Amino acid sequence: MPTPSHAADHPYHRGSDLLALGFGTTVAMWTVGYVCRFPGINAPAWLLMALLVICLGAGGWMAGRFAGRGIMGGLQAGLLAGALNILVLGSLLSRTDAPNSLVPSAVWWVPGWLLLSGLLGAVGAVLARPRATGADAPLARHGLPTFATVAAAATFLLLVAGGIVTGSQAGLAVTDWPNSYGYNMFLYPLSRMTGGIYYEHVHRLLGSLVGLTTLVLAVHLWRTEERSWLRNLGFGALILVIVQGLLGGLRVTGHFTLSDDPSITRPNLWLAVIHGVTGQVFFGTMVAIAAFSTRRWREAVGTVVGGAALDRNLAVLVLGSLVVQLSLGSLLRHTDGALHAHITVAVLVLGFGIALASRLILRRREFPELRRLGHGLLHGLALQFALGFAALFVRNLTAPDGGPHAADVIVTTIHQATGALLLATAVLAVLWSRRLLRPESA
Ligand code: HEM
Ligand code: HEM
Repeated sequence: MPTPSHAADHPYHRGSDLLALGFGTTVAMWTVGYVCRFPGINAPAWLLMALLVICLGAGGWMAGRFAGRGIMGGLQAGLLAGALNILVLGSLLSRTDAPNSLVPSAVWWVPGWLLLSGLLGAVGAVLARPRATGADAPLARHGLPTFATVAAAATFLLLVAGGIVTGSQAGLAVTDWPNSYGYNMFLYPLSRMTGGIYYEHVHRLLGSLVGLTTLVLAVHLWRTEERSWLRNLGFGALILVIVQGLLGGLRVTGHFTLSDDPSITRPNLWLAVIHGVTGQVFFGTMVAIAAFSTRRWREAVGTVVGGAALDRNLAVLVLGSLVVQLSLGSLLRHTDGALHAHITVAVLVLGFGIALASRLILRRREFPELRRLGHGLLHGLALQFALGFAALFVRNLTAPDGGPHAADVIVTTIHQATGALLLATAVLAVLWSRRLLRPESA
């Protein structure tokens, strides 16, 4: 039976499902690895290996179940994840006695790792019972938004990792950049990543994964997307992530240098403040790309409703005040200034947020996405206020060794991450209110 053309994700977006699966599996593996190796957790190696194997198998299983691609799809997803993981393989295979060189067995490890990843993906796919095949498979229908969501999720993980670097005062734990203590960053030995160096260096590695994901998303949009403004937005996101990486590096060294001599590198606190803000703006951009990629966005037609203009304007006010608030938060975190302004603007965000959320929940029942965003906004704001007050208490605590207290790192990082989720909610509220609601006069 011929497949109706509207059943598939846009026909031009072919291949998005595999990108979503390969990158998604990789992001899951990096999350598992990051948590398992976290100082204080240090999960046993066998547990970490078992979890990584499960991730690869699960990626393959999804290729069989949701992409309907069978064993070949599982193999391809596994191979892609394996190839992306070469970004971290170098840290495991580098020699500690001779910087920037690999152990001789690396010649076998790299192809062996690729083979193993592909095989695990294929096994996962064999075990799956497909929900549908061809253009009707769920991931064939929603491949592009899933890939864009994976990219946004990877960015969120990076924001959390960045918050941990700042919270644990590990921003200068590695004093040089783009090298790490003279090593190429992809060959810095895992055994040397302890304490603050772990937080800082892993943040850099995660930054490179997010950079690569953004590059592939931008190229994929460029090749397959018919809306030129969305292609341009993908390209804009790529520029933003490059600038973000440069800001992060220059925060450490103050200027471009390959030296790791502390008397030559000069940290720059203001770049840390800006890096904190642009990180959030970049995350908001990735969330917007994911929304624009959905079928719902392409197919939605605006409905004329009373009070649409008010909803749309309120959403813009929430977003605008949140950006100001995030910037003041970054200033507060890095320079200890702007506490009063941060608390004042918090009240403003709360006022606009409650007004918008109650309108979306009570008056837009027929638009499930708007209602959900209203609920998200209310819960997010309540949590954020509780965390904000908790942050006031814990931020001056010190650990027995004189460094920041664990409670301080945890509370302030969750406060920052919730700020990012609120920003994402506000971006979606602005976009969807504009897409779904049309003012009477328009
Ligand atoms: C590529 C995307 C990147 C994103 C989205 C990102 C995001 C972030 C975020 C949100 C923070 C927390 C800032 C705050 O608490 O105000 C942070 C901290 C930090 N990031 Fe990045 N980052 C990226 C790449 C990099 C790179 C490539 C480096 C290279 C060295 C880097 C170095 C740092 C440092 C040193 C800090 C700690 C700043 C401090 O404590 O003063 N980042 N990052
Ligand atoms: C809408 C509400 C709020 C939002 C969106 C928000 C957002 C943020 C963000 C994103 C940061 C970290 C910025 C960065 O490092 O880049 C931050 C820091 C901070 N916020 Fe908020 N905040 C809100 C409300 C509050 C409230 C009500 C309080 C206290 C009463 C508060 C207290 C703090 C404190 C003390 C810090 C600095 C934490 C540290 O020293 O590491 N915030 N805020």
